[in-house]
Amino acid sequence: MVKVLAVLYKGGQHAKDEPRMYGCLENELGIREWLESQGHTYVTTDSKEGPDSVLDREIVDAEIVVTTPFHPGYITRERIEKAKNLKLLVTAGVGSDHIDLTAANEQNITVAEVTGSNVTSVAEHVVMTILALVRNFVPAHEQIVNNEWDVAAAAKNSFDLEGKVIATIGSGRIGQRVLKRLVAFEPKELLYYDYQPLSPELEKELHARRVESLEELVSQADVVTVNCPLHESTHGLVNKDLLAKFKKGAWLVNTARGAICVKEDIAAAVKSGQLRGYGGDVWFPQPAPANHPWRDMRNSYGGGNAMTPHISGTSIDAQVRYAQGTKNIIETYLKGTKDYRPQDLIVIDGHYATRAYGADKTTK
Ligand code: NAI
Repeated sequence: MVKVLAVLYKGGQHAKDEPRMYGCLENELGIREWLESQGHTYVTTDSKEGPDSVLDREIVDAEIVVTTPFHPGYITRERIEKAKNLKLLVTAGVGSDHIDLTAANEQNITVAEVTGSNVTSVAEHVVMTILALVRNFVPAHEQIVNNEWDVAAAAKNSFDLEGKVIATIGSGRIGQRVLKRLVAFEPKELLYYDYQPLSPELEKELHARRVESLEELVSQADVVTVNCPLHESTHGLVNKDLLAKFKKGAWLVNTARGAICVKEDIAAAVKSGQLRGYGGDVWFPQPAPANHPWRDMRNSYGGGNAMTPHISGTSIDAQVRYAQGTKNIIETYLKGTKDYRPQDLIVIDGHYATRAYGADKTTK
């Protein structure tokens, strides 16, 4: 019999209000009955930080650990090394950077995620955030709730998306969906940077032009959106050196991972006007501490901040899909057939099964 451990965020009353909120602690991905009816053990918790956490205590004899990027149980080398029975790590969602993938590879642990489960959800959030920043929505809305009315104050930093150059770092499932949705806004140009180029047919369909370097991308773009995974070569990718190469007053949207951007450098760029605004939903660490500079950063006009908690990939529609996908992955493991959906595999049998986590990360 197998012990499954899941680290999930607390839902409280909200879990009762919306039973399809499968990704929270109370609703447990909807798999308790299914697991227990087969005699397996299922432990769920939201306690994940430090040596006294339930995660630390329960991982020692767990065979399967499930966690979500929204409330990531950081599966460090140290935790992997003391988890003697661990065979499968499942990300209920997309993005497995909270796992030390090198250590998982070394210990021959399979890492799988529910690829595609929330990519449309994120792409919609990206487009919304771009519009919120470019149109200066947040300060205008704040006027209304504060019982104010000052058209000029909000209008002086509000622009049209039409005619702008918009660029994505990463053109995988989310990047492509962002580009596809942006075509309707009639931008001047859509650019992308990725070491895995799109086919000429797809470039044509998405009206997108590939550039050869990040510098080339950021120096031309009015809006930059980050849609690549977090790995060794994207950690701190957007730092003060790269920000200095951006067009002055560009907008930056990051729903990929917080640690791709250097938090202090972003806050300084928003303050100085090098960036007109920054938005997204991903932070490091998560939950974000009270003193995280992205909570209260503002541009000189009092706007330029379109941050939310990590919600883009956890819409109710997405939760239904990633809960089902998590169940499918566990079911495949329990059958012992190893016939996972190939696109769900990040590492298996001591090798990377995807190139998304770095140009050099290839399958066997
Ligand atoms: P994907 O694997 O389909 O595409 C990722 C693309 O990024 C690949 O084409 C890869 O070649 C490219 N890439 C990797 N390193 C790069 C680099 N250094 N420069 C340029 N491109 C690079 O992944 P998908 O589904 O598009 O998701 C991307 C990321 O978005 C996830 O890894 C995750 O971190 C994040 N995400 C965030 C969510 C949220 O709720 N905020 C939900 C889902 C995903």
